[in-house]
Amino acid sequence: MILEGLRKDIRGIKERDPAARNSLEVLLLYSGLHAIMLHRPAHWLYNHKCFFLARLISQLSRFFTGIEIHPGAKLGHGILIDHGMGVVIGETATVADNCTIYQGVTLGGTGKEKGKRHPDLEEGVMVGSGAKVLGPLTIGAGAKIASGAVVLSSVPPGCTAVGVPARVVRRPDAAPKAAAELDQVHIPDPVSQEICRMNIRIQQLEKELAQYQQEELPEQTEEQE
Ligand SMILES: CC(C)(COP(=O)(O)OP(=O)(O)OC[C@H]1O[C@@H](n2cnc3c(N)ncnc32)[C@H](O)[C@@H]1OP(=O)(O)O)[C@@H](O)C(=O)NCCC(=O)NCCS
Repeated sequence: MILEGLRKDIRGIKERDPAARNSLEVLLLYSGLHAIMLHRPAHWLYNHKCFFLARLISQLSRFFTGIEIHPGAKLGHGILIDHGMGVVIGETATVADNCTIYQGVTLGGTGKEKGKRHPDLEEGVMVGSGAKVLGPLTIGAGAKIASGAVVLSSVPPGCTAVGVPARVVRRPDAAPKAAAELDQVHIPDPVSQEICRMNIRIQQLEKELAQYQQEELPEQTEEQE
């Protein structure tokens, strides 16, 4: 079961980090994976009320990886903590399967709540570098939190939240941006369009001139006679 979990974790990293070349590299060189691997026994000890040992493992993990995961936090599988340094995950936070967390992310409390005070990330959430997600709120499945955002309220599934304080700027049912729909290949050329218009006009004028000359010519020959 432990090995199966580890396999899922490695697969999750390989699927979502284009820089990950093979499983061995991920296993040996990814500090995000090391932090999660160390968190598993720490969480087990925490659940069995061995708080000191749990915290000791968590602190050792922090020392070696730069990632601080409280032993009480509940983590799923296939989570990618990319780069890792500066990530803090609080005691009552939950992170579901296949989430991506970049460096400098805090899943913390606001300092105002007691008991459940950290966020829940549903499946497949992406939290950008340096983002702070604060309070007992829920980030819906597949939502994206922009880098540098400070999230203080729940984000619905599939949405993108940006800014300080974060606001939802994109919903899954939203129409694509006009720029995305623009045909970048067949862009109309205003100069060639104008030349075309002038060509048509010149042809019309030439026709009219020819007609005019034909009408004028018989009159002149009659006068000469
Ligand atoms: C938010 C993000 C995921 C893009 O999501 P998206 O749903 O594709 O959203 P878009 O790129 O269409 O951006 C939507 C709007 O948010 C704005 N926006 C995007 N990222 C932003 C950010 N970090 N801060 C502020 N505004 C941001 C865009 O400018 C755009 O504004 P507009 O509609 O006025 O043009 C991406 O910009 C991001 O922040 N990724 C984090 C990646 C990261 O941390 N990488 C670190 C690797 S080491």
